[in-house]
Amino acid sequence: MIEIIDLRSDTVTKPGREMRVVIANAPVGDDQFEEDPSINLLQERIADYLQKESALWLPTGTMANQVALKVLTRPGDDVIVSKESHAVWHETGGSAANCGTQFTSIGNQGVFTPEEYLAAIKPKGHLMYPPTTLVEIENTHNRAGGIIFPQNYAEAICAISSEHRIATYLDGARLWNAAIALNQPASFLAAPFDLVAVSLSKGLGAPGGSLLAGSKDIIRQCIRYRRMFGGAMRQVGIFAAAGIYALDHNMERLAEDHANARLLAERLSSHERIILDPDTVQTNILVFSLTGSGPDAPTIVNRAKERGVLIFAFNNHTIRAVTHLDVSKAQCEQAAEILLEIMDE
Ligand SMILES: Cc1ncc(COP(=O)(O)O)c(C=O)c1O
Repeated sequence: MIEIIDLRSDTVTKPGREMRVVIANAPVGDDQFEEDPSINLLQERIADYLQKESALWLPTGTMANQVALKVLTRPGDDVIVSKESHAVWHETGGSAANCGTQFTSIGNQGVFTPEEYLAAIKPKGHLMYPPTTLVEIENTHNRAGGIIFPQNYAEAICAISSEHRIATYLDGARLWNAAIALNQPASFLAAPFDLVAVSLSKGLGAPGGSLLAGSKDIIRQCIRYRRMFGGAMRQVGIFAAAGIYALDHNMERLAEDHANARLLAERLSSHERIILDPDTVQTNILVFSLTGSGPDAPTIVNRAKERGVLIFAFNNHTIRAVTHLDVSKAQCEQAAEILLEIMDE
């Protein structure tokens, strides 16, 4: 039987033995009555980590993004995001369906400058423009290849937003990766934003759970929409316990994932058909394009799968690979070898 090296996403990790023991022993209660001790503890831990007044557990990062939009916008509003953001590509049109908002996507490679932002803002009270009421920054940026949003830009953008009375939201599903790569506390990266989402089920390896963190008032409003979207649950302390374990055990090791992604990038970029600058690989995601003649991205993905390496095609010429807790350095070396062989077949 061939060994599977799954580089499709950092969401594919499975809880290990110790995490499962913690899950089995988790104190639980009815979270809709705010009586789940594990959820309460996790919410306190996250609020403390991010230095926000309050935090709220939600089952998924997608729901966190939807609830954030619902609280911070009104139907007909304009939301400024980076190009190719998760909210635009990966949430099945939820923003339009749930919140009636439209997106203006700006910048490049997951980043936009304060100048680009200022130019894109549609003022309130205009006869024709949809008012910009929210800016959403994704850090790190998934489809741009785990790119870290420059903090000086984030600070300037949030300062501009405050002048224009625009709310600020950070989709920090992989904020931990940015924090570890920069050697900065996550609270530093979260500081300029009104509302912040973080995830436990990406690099940290828990089976589920995201949290929103912000002021008490905003989080109180999030509670209502979490329920409206069907995400208010009961004895979810079993998830929270896994999340607490993940925070305690799997945070510092994210640096290994970053080193493995860099290693993969360095090896793959040696191939003439692969366009990828290893220096742009800042965290655990690499996105590369294929040039010249030869098999397209879906064909490469299928051939890799036959050899046990799972990767993900964004389109005919773009592929993503993600390193995580369940792939070792040796497996990344092996995956690089297999992928290079396939490119030459
Ligand atoms: C940047 C970003 N935000 C949000 C999400 C959504 O998270 P979930 O899969 O928990 O819904 C993801 C998922 O990969 C993501 O990459």
